[in-house]
Amino acid sequence: MSDRETWASRLGFLLAAIGSAVGLGNIWQFPFKTATNGGAVFLVFYLVAVLLIGFPAMLAEFIIGRRTNRNAVDAFGELGFKQWRVVGGLGVFTGFWILSYYNVVGGWVMRYILGSATGAYFGNSAEYFGAIASGPEAVVGQALFLLICVGIVAVGVEDGIEKATKVMVPSIVLLMIGMAAWVTTLEGAGAGYSYFLSPDFSTLAANAGDLIPFAVGQAFFTLSLGMAAMITYSSYIGDDESLPVDGGIIVVTNTLVGVLAGLVVFPILFAINVSPDTSGPSAIFVAMASAFPQLPGGRLLGVVFFGVVLIAAISSAISLLEVTVSYGVDNTSYSRVSLAAMLGVVLFVLGFPSAWDLAWFGWFDTLAYKLFLPLSVLLILVFVGWVLSSNAVAELRQGTGGLRAFGPTWLWMVRTVVILGVLLTLVLGLQTLFL
Ligand code: PHE
Ligand code: NA
Repeated sequence: MSDRETWASRLGFLLAAIGSAVGLGNIWQFPFKTATNGGAVFLVFYLVAVLLIGFPAMLAEFIIGRRTNRNAVDAFGELGFKQWRVVGGLGVFTGFWILSYYNVVGGWVMRYILGSATGAYFGNSAEYFGAIASGPEAVVGQALFLLICVGIVAVGVEDGIEKATKVMVPSIVLLMIGMAAWVTTLEGAGAGYSYFLSPDFSTLAANAGDLIPFAVGQAFFTLSLGMAAMITYSSYIGDDESLPVDGGIIVVTNTLVGVLAGLVVFPILFAINVSPDTSGPSAIFVAMASAFPQLPGGRLLGVVFFGVVLIAAISSAISLLEVTVSYGVDNTSYSRVSLAAMLGVVLFVLGFPSAWDLAWFGWFDTLAYKLFLPLSVLLILVFVGWVLSSNAVAELRQGTGGLRAFGPTWLWMVRTVVILGVLLTLVLGLQTLFL
């Protein structure tokens, strides 16, 4: 264990974890889900889900990772609870499952960068998506995206992931702020802001049963929880860091980038009168692709916009890949490079159905949201809250300085509100899955 890798610095960990959190969820999903589910009303549900359930659950994963400095499966054994390794296994599986179709979207994004540069989608944005989103074109895109991620993870934690995310995360934030500032100058932008954020209680009433599982599932996905990513990343940090402070920074930054994405997307769409009334996987691609051709400097703007989406997608995908590579590094004699390559091949095969046919893509995504994610988080919370319990609080307090009351409050919350909230999410989600 003495030669196990670590982050070079606290900032390195923070940026890598923010890189994991800030991803397609923030840009490709969040703005549209917010706009079509009641605007500011959904935002409130989502913020409550993030603060009340996501944030405490993130701390639970940090505790497991940092206490043991082990991969997400063996961490449970290291803590003395071998039977619970299956929970780590479920997390690793969930991460792998999600990554398999996340790569497909990564491939679409790469294709749209090219399409922006050449103008290939100009004038036929819906057909273009149809042509590249599934079948052979999507399979090629998925493979290329995977190749980039495998390359970064193969280099290592400090030299690969840490160095890459140190450049990527600040670029995402700065370019997003830049674009959000620029769109304020567009005529007609105002309607976009109100479409994004104005509260709509009618959709709320219609979707009430769906809204809680939806907001909580989105909170897990966007914060990279339930897939062993945060366990793995926190297994490379030291005892002097404050977990609540680090977690707070990650949660706040992740939310800000999601809101920023909405403040970029909708003003552009409304400025050129594109109707954004869809929230499926194609939403951002089709809408933005019909907007860029009509804007001054549209090609460049498209390259920059989809470029930011690509950076965000890569910095998330590498965290999922690292989960399994980390397990392999700790448990096999294969090198990091061969593990990354082999897992890349497995992921390609697992993602093939999603790349080939959008129906499979939807099926993978639905199962992840409604079953694997909430189940995985629920079991982690039960473990940390009821099995580790006071040991978990002790770990949380390491490096926390003041805030003595935080630990017990957090534990009480995990044991009650958080677990019940996730249980409710799981039950409601499964109900819609089978109805
Ligand atoms: N959090 C990422 C996003 O919002 C997705 C992700 C999920 C990344 C799970 C890592 C682990 O896009
Ligand atoms: Na996110």
